[in-house]
Amino acid sequence: MYRTHTCGELRLEHNGQQVSLSGWVQTVRKFGSITFVDLRDRYGITQLLFGESLNQQLDDQPLGREFVIQVTGTVTERSSKNKNIPTGDIEITISSFSILNAAKTPPFTIQDDTDGGDELRMKYRYLDLRRNSVKQNLELRYRLNRAARNFLDSKGFMDIETPFLIKSTPEGARDFVVPSRMNPNEFYALPQSPQTFKQLLMVSGYDRYYQIVKCFRDEDLRADRQPEFTQIDCEMSFVEQEDVLNNFEEMLKYIFQEIKGITFNEPFPRMTFDDAMEFYGNDKPDIRFDMKLVNFTDIAKGNGFKVFDEAELVVAICAKGCSEYTRKQMDELTDWVKRPQIGMSGLIYARVNADGTVKSSVDKFFDETKLKVWADKCQAQPGDLILVLAGKEERTRKAMSELRLEMGDRMGLRNKDEYKPLWVIDFPLFEYAEEENRWVARHHPFTSPKPEHISWMEDTSKYADIKANAYDIVLNGTEIGGGSIRIFQRELQERMFAALGMSPDEARHKFGFLLGAFEYGAPPHGGLAFGFDRLCALLGGSDSIRDFIAFPKNNSGRDVMLDAPSSIDQTQLNELKIALVK
Ligand code: AMO
Repeated sequence: MYRTHTCGELRLEHNGQQVSLSGWVQTVRKFGSITFVDLRDRYGITQLLFGESLNQQLDDQPLGREFVIQVTGTVTERSSKNKNIPTGDIEITISSFSILNAAKTPPFTIQDDTDGGDELRMKYRYLDLRRNSVKQNLELRYRLNRAARNFLDSKGFMDIETPFLIKSTPEGARDFVVPSRMNPNEFYALPQSPQTFKQLLMVSGYDRYYQIVKCFRDEDLRADRQPEFTQIDCEMSFVEQEDVLNNFEEMLKYIFQEIKGITFNEPFPRMTFDDAMEFYGNDKPDIRFDMKLVNFTDIAKGNGFKVFDEAELVVAICAKGCSEYTRKQMDELTDWVKRPQIGMSGLIYARVNADGTVKSSVDKFFDETKLKVWADKCQAQPGDLILVLAGKEERTRKAMSELRLEMGDRMGLRNKDEYKPLWVIDFPLFEYAEEENRWVARHHPFTSPKPEHISWMEDTSKYADIKANAYDIVLNGTEIGGGSIRIFQRELQERMFAALGMSPDEARHKFGFLLGAFEYGAPPHGGLAFGFDRLCALLGGSDSIRDFIAFPKNNSGRDVMLDAPSSIDQTQLNELKIALVK
């Protein structure tokens, strides 16, 4: 038997017991004739005491960091207790030990604050995963997975697997494709989500489906995006938007209670997409703090200041209590908005002084009376700082939304332990894709328009105004889930495909299976998918979903441990009938 207990298990109540432990050597400390070893496994750390009688064996077989050893000994009360670990009251007085496997010196220290950089830790991810902080993240992920399953099981949702080798499901990203040896020149696509399958399951009568499932998207990566990621994917039949929102709000509340011990007594607030854009400049507002965007276009134009006069949008925020920002801080903020990622040409500001007077960086064009109007418009009080951006509408709104978040960070208003969920509803059905020069589905092409807007689908001039039965769940400024009520009639689905510029032939070729299914009794249905990795990261207080994935890819989509993607040999290519373009 390798072990009678784990390294996290023994307490004073075990005093005097003979035990065996197995694990990894965390540290070796020699004091005169005795040696202390911290032995680690998944469950914790236990201190081992090697007395004088084992010195010879220790000399012959020295222990090093990360060696795997097995020990036998007696649980003993420690004279100097360690309050920081649960096993800190005891140590094991070792009678015999054996080395099960030696280890090379690890390339970085296996500790919470390790000396290993990102790339190195990813290359040796199996060592990185030994670190307590990473282990805690995976434990949280596991507990969250269990909580979601418990909730969904209790509500009658059935876990049904759907295939990975499929035909493309459009979710707005590029597909990863897989060649088929048995069908030369043909390719499967990996699912961007199980969207069409879950809808088919509704047609089949499985009226509550869920799956915690991998999705694959070939898109540019960021801290909250991986090429393969996990969704808690759900679908329900005979539901309206309200039913879906209520069900998944309850689920999120359950998860918060189970995982964080946080109770949400109030319903989650809801905000329309239009309001989110107007007041926060994006569709996933961080509502932990206020600082809403205020449209200054009317009051700013026509005062001889070219930047404002030529702008499509002039927009402001009021940073409470920041009027004392120094020249240096203002220059820093100006540089910040000028960074290519933000792309503004400059930042205009006005300080509301303690005596109520307002001083701006554009005093030449705006006298005290005009600046008072600025202050009134954004309800600025003495001590506040007004920040103004001007330029092309979309870019300026986006930049202001980023600046708002940046100010939120600088002012300490984005506390990671505070959770503010929000439903964003009434999304537009379509959005215009400039690069492609055509209208695309904002969510996906299976999302239903609001019934009162269906008749507008034949008139492209109305496309921007058509709203969908689509919703997102947002937590602290991150979109953690999204879904919609679906189209379930063939005729409307065909109109939707046509509106997206698909010919009837193309629609039949791509989605004939779904259109066909809708002719055999499709129930009204709708659903949603949570981004599971994002939920884990937020509940674990991290910005990066990579910390919560056992084997993540880096920002170039590479697995640096496996060195994937990699080339394949000529025989494999021949079998697949693939010729590479040099
Ligand atoms: P959507 O595309 O909005 O909806 O995806 C659902 C949620 O998945 C998360 N997510 C990601 N997480 C990590 N890396 C990525 N690359 C990534 N892309 C998306 C987000 C997002 O909210 N089939 C629909 C759902 C439905 O309509 O029911 C869908 O996939 O948190």
